[in-house]
Amino acid sequence: MKSLKPKILRFESLPSTNTELARQASEGAGEGLSILADEQTAGRGRLQRAWSSPRGAGLYFSILLRPAIAADQWPLITFMAALAVGDALSEACDVNTDIKWPNDLLSGERKICGILAESVETPAGRAVIVGIGINLTAEAYPAEIANVATSVVEASGRAPERETLLAALLSALSRWYSLLHEIDGPSKIVAAWTSRSSYASGKRVQVANGDEVWQGITRGVEADGALRLETSDGTRIVRAGDVRLRERGSTN
Ligand code: BTN
Repeated sequence: MKSLKPKILRFESLPSTNTELARQASEGAGEGLSILADEQTAGRGRLQRAWSSPRGAGLYFSILLRPAIAADQWPLITFMAALAVGDALSEACDVNTDIKWPNDLLSGERKICGILAESVETPAGRAVIVGIGINLTAEAYPAEIANVATSVVEASGRAPERETLLAALLSALSRWYSLLHEIDGPSKIVAAWTSRSSYASGKRVQVANGDEVWQGITRGVEADGALRLETSDGTRIVRAGDVRLRERGSTN
């Protein structure tokens, strides 16, 4: 059984916990090395976006993983991270979440956590850095995205204890990561992800990837986590992109 033994390095300020961990990984850091920062001055999100990270307003965390699973199952690492964050928010903050494909945690329809997984070449082989940003207070995100973002304070009505949430997150990550390495682990992770995501099936969405935009209805995920989208031209298997809800009554 693969077990994770996180070791945390704490920083007051960093450009990005993912970037710092990638640097340490390329110098030979071991699995489980984790970085926590009070603020990030150049926090990064998916699809080359910035991740707003003011001091004390969010949990900015990255962990180094060296998964011993087949390469085609690596996308499930973000699924297992989303499941772990969902457990941690529920256990430590009483916040229930939904998952928007592939790994945005939502409270109601608004995003409370984002996950950025990046692979990195290291002296001990390819590894992955999983970066997790959880909005603790409304100061974590810019006011202009308040219609699509939320925070633990808004979702639970009380100030979260960052250390309690971190401890719950580490223990949930260890559980789901061990499961990922069991024989039926990947299929169990896909099943758990599917049961926790209202986006997995039957949702009318628009998926944008660069200049390409597809409209359709979600029809579950493949064994490797790719999204099945039923479009007017047939079923499309989506491996990367940004999913948005489509209003009922939209013309296509
Ligand atoms: C997303 O776009 O939804 C992913 C956001 C990931 C943000 C986290 S905060 C900790 C880690 N360091 C970064 O620079 N990004 C990730």
